[in-house]
Amino acid sequence: MRKPQFIARQGRKPSGLLGHIVARIMAKETADENDFALALLRLQPEDAVLEIGCGHGDTLAKAAKLASRGLLCGVDFSPVMNRVATRRHRRLLAEKRLEFRLGSSDKLPFPDQSFDKVLAVHTIYFWKAPLDHLTETRRVMKPGGLFVLGFRPAEDPRFQATFPSEIYHIRPEIEIAQLASDAGFEAVELRKHTRGDVQFSFVMGTRA
Ligand SMILES: C[S@@+](CC[C@H](N)C(=O)[O-])C[C@H]1O[C@@H](n2cnc3c(N)ncnc32)[C@H](O)[C@@H]1O
Repeated sequence: MRKPQFIARQGRKPSGLLGHIVARIMAKETADENDFALALLRLQPEDAVLEIGCGHGDTLAKAAKLASRGLLCGVDFSPVMNRVATRRHRRLLAEKRLEFRLGSSDKLPFPDQSFDKVLAVHTIYFWKAPLDHLTETRRVMKPGGLFVLGFRPAEDPRFQATFPSEIYHIRPEIEIAQLASDAGFEAVELRKHTRGDVQFSFVMGTRA
């Protein structure tokens, strides 16, 4: 069944009381594919890690166990998500292992070449001009850095049928892989994962 626009808008940028509820549901629902993305990143203890569209922050908190001596940063443009993530991960924030920034992925609040590993899961649907966001992502990556972009692809017709196209820009995986190459990523690879009968695609690329 097609989701109403007000629910789809919450997926794009959670807000208000409903946004707090959506954040909690999202943290549970997307854990499996986020774990898969983390495994693809092959995190090392010293890695500096960025998550774009980090939402609830649970994925970064898991990453903190693997990148045990690195800095972990999350960026999200939803003030509600920023508040939720800050509350859920107070201890890691107090230990200065983690930081959550309010900001948009087309203007990341970080200097050039800051991160070894970057991930973004279920976020590309909301980028109208994805090349700008991907180029900006590459800017903040160190040479040799690895990027993992996770999403449900247009190849899954039920996903397209469920979410309104005015809010969710659902693209074929090959188009997203090409966008990553166009943004300057190298060694671009495609990986697939399924949860039950739901398909996920992951585009990986390095900054040479
Ligand atoms: C569907 S949620 C996914 C959250 C999390 N990555 C997960 O997989 O559970 C999308 C998140 O990306 C954020 N977001 C969407 N577009 C963004 C942008 N241009 N810049 C920063 N954050 C963005 C939203 O606020 C939301 O928290």
